[in-house]
Amino acid sequence: MIIEKAKEYVKRVFESDHSGHDYFHTIRVYKMATHIAMEEQADLYLVQLAALLHDVDDIKLSKETYHNKDNARSFLKENHIEDLVIEKIIMIIEDISYRGSDSVVPRSLEGMCVQDADRLDAIGAIGIARAFAYGGNHNRVMHDPTCPPTMDMNAEEYHNHVSTTINHFYEKLFKLRGLMNTDTAKKIALQRDRYMKEYISVFMDEWDGVR
Ligand code: ADP
Ligand code: NI
Repeated sequence: MIIEKAKEYVKRVFESDHSGHDYFHTIRVYKMATHIAMEEQADLYLVQLAALLHDVDDIKLSKETYHNKDNARSFLKENHIEDLVIEKIIMIIEDISYRGSDSVVPRSLEGMCVQDADRLDAIGAIGIARAFAYGGNHNRVMHDPTCPPTMDMNAEEYHNHVSTTINHFYEKLFKLRGLMNTDTAKKIALQRDRYMKEYISVFMDEWDGVR
């Protein structure tokens, strides 16, 4: 079955990546997107395939295929998915990614479900872990009180910006709650956002030797 094949395919693609864009991220997005799609009565088949393939042409992993989404296209084509369906899935993948103030609202309900699921994976307990994993991977310092966050960056500024991991919470993660498309994701984001705020507050207290 195509979903099982897609799972095997992404497992192979992400085998060597430990930067937080790994196979398990994709599987979490797939599960969360499925949950959201069922609640929102979206087309499960499109949502599940787009969720599984959403990062196989990520610009950081695969610069050459990013523009035309060649990896996702080849996989779907090889598995005899209709052209019309392939275009719908590619459209969902194109709309997903976070580009600061240049991010887009997906053109379909299915795109909204997948974008919400991808963004939910960047917040909450897993989101905190991913942020520090990313920071370590990029040799970033955790926190520097003399280096304040930069707000309201566009895609280019966001892409080129070098900052601390704590700043990433202010520059991106705390904004995601307000950017959810579906009511289902808004509810989950609220809980995860509260948890992150609590975490940052404890972090700052410990930093200042208060507790
Ligand atoms: P997406 O899955 O939306 O494409 P990214 O590729 O931007 O997300 O980031 C992957 C993970 O790394 C996310 O959890 C994100 O919060 C985290 N991350 C990205 N940039 C930074 C950063 N500058 N500092 C800390 N974490 C980051
Ligand atoms: Ni992702």
